[in-house]
Amino acid sequence: SADEMERRVREIKQKFGKRLFIPGHHYQKDEVIQFANETGDSLQLAQVSAENKEAEFIVFCGVHFMAETADILTDENQKVILPDMRAGCSMADMADIDQTERSWEKLQSTFGDTILPLTYVNSTAAIKSFVGKNGGATVTSSNAKKMVSWAFTQKERILFLPDQHLGRNTAYDLGVPLDKMAVWNPITDTLEYEGDNVEDIVVILWKGHCSVHENFTVKNIEQIREEKPDMNILVHPECSREVVALSDYAGSTKYIIDMIKQAPKGSKWAIGTEMNLVKRLIDNNPDKEIVSLNPYMCPCLTMNRIDLPHLLWTLEELEQGNVVNQIAVDETTAKYATLALDKMLQNV
Ligand code: 13P
Ligand code: SF4
Repeated sequence: SADEMERRVREIKQKFGKRLFIPGHHYQKDEVIQFANETGDSLQLAQVSAENKEAEFIVFCGVHFMAETADILTDENQKVILPDMRAGCSMADMADIDQTERSWEKLQSTFGDTILPLTYVNSTAAIKSFVGKNGGATVTSSNAKKMVSWAFTQKERILFLPDQHLGRNTAYDLGVPLDKMAVWNPITDTLEYEGDNVEDIVVILWKGHCSVHENFTVKNIEQIREEKPDMNILVHPECSREVVALSDYAGSTKYIIDMIKQAPKGSKWAIGTEMNLVKRLIDNNPDKEIVSLNPYMCPCLTMNRIDLPHLLWTLEELEQGNVVNQIAVDETTAKYATLALDKMLQNV
């Protein structure tokens, strides 16, 4: 039963003490997040992983790229475990390393040495490594503006991987007009651009997106505005430019949580982000009216693969002395990926 599983998780956590560390992303289910030693957005989880030097085992409740990042940022003797190996991220999978290297060559032949690559942390270790090797940095949704501004102090142009929406929303906020942005289509190996002169392009957006956040639409917003004009609309910047433009606020999961925490009693909010977080905000804020911007709620299926039975399974294996589902990034990849991650961690 769930009660018995919960009891066992508590027991094993206690047994291991500080040798075991469980970070949990805000999109994780309640049944899992209740056991997290730290919860956070992607940036906070990268920071806590980098700072934790005492845990021998880090059981990461989040998705694959987050566990890879934790492995890169921790010491050699610290082992990172992902409770279910199928917990990937469809957005991270939209930029594969061979495609990226091929695209980079083509872009270099058009633009020469004027481009700095940046990658959203929602990317594989191989992509982070590619970016680090080429002088660039990682970004998260909570420091994207700072990092894109920094990138423009280095080079004239940026290539932003793999989320076109976070890239576009961030550059737009920094004052880059949409007609100076182009989209790189890695399937057709072409630049999608409507202007006349490619020399005008300063932001090249990789054609990737989040399949959860694409479910929040302009139609959803129009409906809320019509039915509840006093509702605030708060979305994650992985939503499209049109959706962010029509919303009242946009920011990372931490930003969303902080915004709701300090919102006045009785205020009304429609939130455009993953379902587990929206549900938790509804449950924890009975004094506010909170709904999902898309009334059908939008779960991230891969985040949801981490559940209580998988968490308990990895812990019971640890109890038996077995490390299962270890995420170990190879040394060379980690070396260059660290360059990209450190640039970000030093800038924030
Ligand atoms: P943040 O928690 O950094 O806002 O990231 C959201 C996300 O989609 C993680 O996969
Ligand atoms: Fe990836 Fe989107 Fe799920 Fe985040 S919410 S893990 S970006 S698919």
